[in-house]
Amino acid sequence: MFPGETFPRKTGEVKASFFQMASARSNPIDADVIPLGSYPTPVRKVELPEPLEGELWLKDDGHSAQLYGGNKVRKLERLLALAQRQGARRLLTIGAAGSHHVLATCVFGARLGLPTRAVLTPQPWTEHAEDTLRAALHAGLAAVPATSGLAALRLLRRERQPGDFVIGPGGWGVAGTWAYRLAVDELQEQLRRAGIERLEGIVVAAGSGSTAAGLLAGVLETGIARRVIAVQVAANPLLRAIITGQALNALWRQGRPLHAARALARLEIESSFVGAGYGHASERAITATGLARSFGLALEPTYTAKAFAAAIERTHAPAGGGAGSKLRLRQRHAYLYWHTLSSVPLTALLTGAPEALPNELAHLLRKPPLRDGRDVP
Ligand SMILES: Cc1ncc(COP(=O)(O)O)c(C=O)c1O
Repeated sequence: MFPGETFPRKTGEVKASFFQMASARSNPIDADVIPLGSYPTPVRKVELPEPLEGELWLKDDGHSAQLYGGNKVRKLERLLALAQRQGARRLLTIGAAGSHHVLATCVFGARLGLPTRAVLTPQPWTEHAEDTLRAALHAGLAAVPATSGLAALRLLRRERQPGDFVIGPGGWGVAGTWAYRLAVDELQEQLRRAGIERLEGIVVAAGSGSTAAGLLAGVLETGIARRVIAVQVAANPLLRAIITGQALNALWRQGRPLHAARALARLEIESSFVGAGYGHASERAITATGLARSFGLALEPTYTAKAFAAAIERTHAPAGGGAGSKLRLRQRHAYLYWHTLSSVPLTALLTGAPEALPNELAHLLRKPPLRDGRDVP
């Protein structure tokens, strides 16, 4: 299965694809884009009720599109261009039951006349996850329930048909990575105008890791931040390799110089916000959600509450530590949280949608045992 390519492929084509990968410079990332979003997305300094040690900035990709925003828009602009050029008749993807990626794929695929079929895996119930799934179904999603991640991969193979364009989980892969590499140029220009030359870190939620990978590639090329802090939302011992690999692969495909050691050094995996795992809120994430609400930013528990909690914690820590800390203490101690959740209220996408989920899908959203009314480990 090759995400980002139409099925079926012949053996000869597969061999050709490996050959092209081996000669990267002859196989640059496709430049075609179907414009779906509006850019640049806003950048602003965050003011919290309680002052922070450093400065916290927000890059708000929640406003990346009027129909449905978030970090999937930049990825889908490239993925859907590829699907159209390959003559796809259907989009086939995979995700958790309340996946924003699946919803975005349905919404934007439908605009291009491409229906979406998705294999869905269980996740803890939240109202947001249920609404996201209801909105996706209302946007035309044909859902195939799976009992686990492994079962989902098997089902994905079984479901694929001639004319399917396969999109990996979260829009994973080189096209989405490159979209976020270019988004760093957009940010650099905005920060330059705000008088900021260099950030301590860019903090972002990491699922499939392609958003963080694109930001890492951008940081390597522009030097706009000392590091990318990828906030892990589920246990995944391979996340560092996945993010670095996607960043280096994208740079390689574009014929850019590769510095694997620098890439590893500029990526930090923040794993202390995982809590009880994917889709489970943690105490710190709940606090962060309240703080974000105080300046008008809505978060959800799976990705953005954890990432924003990490961003606050970083910005609150005193500057310095480690080699060169004296110099850094004199520099501005600024972090940027890259917001990845759509800011478009789901109400518009839910207008006319059935109130309840069909039975075969409702059980995918598992209600965890509650303690004091909260799902806390
Ligand atoms: C709101 C939100 N933030 C972050 C992510 C993670 O992005 P990535 O898969 O590129 O790591 C997702 C993925 O689905 C998401 O829905």
